[in-house]
Amino acid sequence: MDKVIQWSTGNIGRQTLAAIIDHPDLELVGVYAFDSAKVGLDAGELCHRGRTGIETTGDVDALVEMEADCVCLTPVYYDEEILVRLLRSGKNVVASGGFIHPEGVQSEAFMERIEAACREGGSSIFGSGVNPGFINAITILLTHACRQVESVTWDEFSYAGLYNSPESWSYLGLGLSPEEREKRGASALPDPGAPNSLDFSGFAEAVRLTAGALGLEIDEYQFGEEAAVATRPIRVAWTTYEVGTVAGLRHWVTGIVAGKPVLTGRVNWYMGLDLEPNWIPERSTREYLGRIAIEGEPSIHCDFGIGQGSLHDPRLIENAIDPALVATAMPIVNAIPVVCRARPGIRTYLDLPMMAAKNLVKI
Ligand SMILES: NC(=O)c1ccc[n+]([C@@H]2O[C@H](COP(=O)([O-])OP(=O)(O)OC[C@H]3O[C@@H](n4cnc5c(N)ncnc54)[C@H](OP(=O)(O)O)[C@@H]3O)[C@@H](O)[C@H]2O)c1
Repeated sequence: MDKVIQWSTGNIGRQTLAAIIDHPDLELVGVYAFDSAKVGLDAGELCHRGRTGIETTGDVDALVEMEADCVCLTPVYYDEEILVRLLRSGKNVVASGGFIHPEGVQSEAFMERIEAACREGGSSIFGSGVNPGFINAITILLTHACRQVESVTWDEFSYAGLYNSPESWSYLGLGLSPEEREKRGASALPDPGAPNSLDFSGFAEAVRLTAGALGLEIDEYQFGEEAAVATRPIRVAWTTYEVGTVAGLRHWVTGIVAGKPVLTGRVNWYMGLDLEPNWIPERSTREYLGRIAIEGEPSIHCDFGIGQGSLHDPRLIENAIDPALVATAMPIVNAIPVVCRARPGIRTYLDLPMMAAKNLVKI
């Protein structure tokens, strides 16, 4: 059994927490809560599980000193200082923000700092999620059947009206008029050295990961975006997006190779269906939609939906209305046993074995 500390208990963190508690090969030993109101609660209470006897704490020092094999890191922003301490203390880390393929995207100083902490602690770190992460692993695998590849594009279409992360959405300028957003700085361009997945550097890392798999060197990353405005008031759990304010966003990162746009990853997020422009495919109104297009010989096109499973027990999927949260959590939880046994350093899908829902089959 690998001993795991869950770090933060937000949308993704509550899903990873539940999955760690349920997992036959993992043992929950600690839980960090950033929000002082959550400190002192039994971990099970936070994710519709029974009592675990493990209480949430805000005591970073105690968690750094605790004996554990892995930290499941899912805060909205992680603290680089704390991350370095965890890695130096010998704890492996799986993360839902960043660490898809930081080399070539994040600063060399950042890379060296993390690698040095891993060397010192004999630890490794791996980042994934549904996108970036899982979708890139699938994309890379699909190219395995090609004789020639000309371009690779992957899209996520995701209804975000149930994704209760108001800080994230306001950070991205949703709810502002396009003009206000433009003035504030519409495109949150990557800020090397301060990685967090809302700056879109994680998506650039996904392009870098795919390039690495295909033996390509990226000459330049180009970032683009298109904001869509509400054509009717769009009500979500935490606010109402008024007519004329930004309520949808598509953002893309393209890797340019020899002057050509070869690799493109794009997110398409929408708070409701009444948007202008409206680029929402019909299928994605029912489920999270991943869409991959490889042009080459042969061309391979793949859509995958992440929707309600057959397991409707709310204890199994806490937020049954958004299975995409589960699909964001599980690629890192299912990686824990592998990452705990990987060689020290920053590990990616390029150097870990193929992973699956090992020991999670329910018959
Ligand atoms: N790769 C993917 O597919 C994917 C998909 C979705 C999200 N993500 C990433 O996963 C991470 C978590 O997303 P989420 O939706 O779970 O976020 P969230 O619910 O908005 O926030 C997560 C937690 O972060 C903690 N937190 C809040 N403010 C903080 C601060 N100033 N400093 C440190 N911690 C703070 C809180 O922890 P407590 O609960 O402990 O108080 C909060 O519950 C983000 O980096 C997000 O971008 C990745």
